[in-house]
Amino acid sequence: MHKILFVCLGNICRSPFAEAALKHFVRQSGLQDSYIIDSAGIGGWHVGQRPDRRMVEAAWQRGYKMEHFGRQVCADDFLIFDMLIGMDDSNIDSLEQIAPSLEAKAKIRRMVDFVSDDFRKKHPNSVIDSVPDPYYGGTAGFYYAIDLIEDACQGLMRQLEKTMNYV
Ligand code: 4NP
Repeated sequence: MHKILFVCLGNICRSPFAEAALKHFVRQSGLQDSYIIDSAGIGGWHVGQRPDRRMVEAAWQRGYKMEHFGRQVCADDFLIFDMLIGMDDSNIDSLEQIAPSLEAKAKIRRMVDFVSDDFRKKHPNSVIDSVPDPYYGGTAGFYYAIDLIEDACQGLMRQLEKTMNYV
């Protein structure tokens, strides 16, 4: 079983989309019974809320339905999940502060570490060191986040399934 928690700042744009995308890819591969996938925010401003309507709309255009309700990450998440994946360095710093132990800290990952070389080649002018926060920008930022997150979710799944096949 793979237990994955995606984390961003508000839990209304990037991480709930990552949750929807990975759930989609996992279902497509018939692996839904082997994964627990959720998302959470560093901040608590949007607890109980539906994702940002601009993200819902952009995701819908790409064929995804986002069904998450906002929630805040907590120390217990480090007990439940085996990977907590932050969208940017600020999320990673915050996760490191919340992590209750060294073992917990070792579960923290950066989303961009799963981005493929192909994606990087297709975006030669972008420095891909985070999933940029689209919240304060225009529509293009939401579609860029979707492209980046889709690619990283596929990379993550490839990595997890490869590890499984060696066991
Ligand atoms: P997210 O975007 O971290 O991708 O969900 C944000 C959403 C809300 C806020 C910041 C970032 N906010 O400050 O309310």
